[in-house]
Amino acid sequence: MAYTVPKLTDYSPGALEEAASECVGACAGEAAEVRSEAELKAFRDRWMARKNGILTQINDLWLKSAPKDAKREAGIRVNELKARITETVEAAHVGGDGNSLAAEQVDISLPGVRRPIGAEHPVMRTWHEIVSVFQKLGYSVAEGPVVETDYYNFEALNFPPNHPARDTQDTLFIAGQQSKPQRERLLLRTHTSPVQIRTMEKMRPPIRIVIPGTVHRNDPPDASHSPMFHQIEGLAVDNNITFGDLKGTLDHAMKTLFGSSVKTHFRPSFFPFTEPSAELYVTCFICGGSGKRGADSCRPCKQTGWIEVLGCGMVDPNVFEFVKHNGYDPKKVSGFAFGMGVDRLALLKYGVDDIQLFFQGDVRFLQQFG
Ligand code: DAH
Repeated sequence: MAYTVPKLTDYSPGALEEAASECVGACAGEAAEVRSEAELKAFRDRWMARKNGILTQINDLWLKSAPKDAKREAGIRVNELKARITETVEAAHVGGDGNSLAAEQVDISLPGVRRPIGAEHPVMRTWHEIVSVFQKLGYSVAEGPVVETDYYNFEALNFPPNHPARDTQDTLFIAGQQSKPQRERLLLRTHTSPVQIRTMEKMRPPIRIVIPGTVHRNDPPDASHSPMFHQIEGLAVDNNITFGDLKGTLDHAMKTLFGSSVKTHFRPSFFPFTEPSAELYVTCFICGGSGKRGADSCRPCKQTGWIEVLGCGMVDPNVFEFVKHNGYDPKKVSGFAFGMGVDRLALLKYGVDDIQLFFQGDVRFLQQFG
């Protein structure tokens, strides 16, 4: 029941004290129930309003009607009471006072707030699938910097300064590097291959690593190019690693990634850091190798029945020369390497026809992979 100011008949100190504490208790109780700014204002007015607020009523009912001999005592009590009430009213705030547990109570029978769980991006899904195929073969994961030096990106991979092979990778250079020796100049790595050198500098043979990462090239964006894309590199070095090991490993990896019925096929190629070098083709997993889709020709493989998936080869002895000091004597060790474009494989795997869709962040596109 709401508090109303009682009339006093007994002005003994005990009775005054009792009336005062009842009043203070009522005020504190109401303060704790304040739940909004509007309620706060109403509460303040009820207690403090000059015209007929509770304090004014107390003044009128308790003080003015006090018998003469009790006036002094009543005056002291009422002043004390006013101070306590004013303090309580001023301290009151929305949400109540000293009763925050009540304000914070939740209805545990309500359903919880559902957080929408995102889906793995198709490029990252492909990335993880490829990495895990090699992890199961005993490979570990290595990573390296995206801003790289000319030395690691080119020179130590057997692209000598000014060699035309550098032209095959349109490079984005960091500005203002001209005062440095060429090998120290910074650029955005054009491939993940520099991490081969960085890892061989740190780890002695034998090694088996996969190197996923972001790379950049000065390619204008179109349906099959993006200035930023992803690669996964592989490197295995030991005594007696042969081209047969390379073929067996990659054949197994392709069957795991694209299904056991795919066939692999190696064609000679050139990369400065491998000799011999090859491109790996797999039978088109869209048309199954026939080059046809019903009466139409198969687009992804350009009717050939074969799709190029990566570059590979036996590590060139010139590359080992750069890390010879760490146990990579080209007369004693041999190895193979490979590198593939994750985005390109994701395009093929999911039948997406424009690489730009991967990077535009359009939820309508990405939701399809949820
Ligand atoms: N780095 C090459 C590129 O970006 C791909 C590559 C080819 C990597 C052959 C290799 C390799 O490790 O052996 O075009």
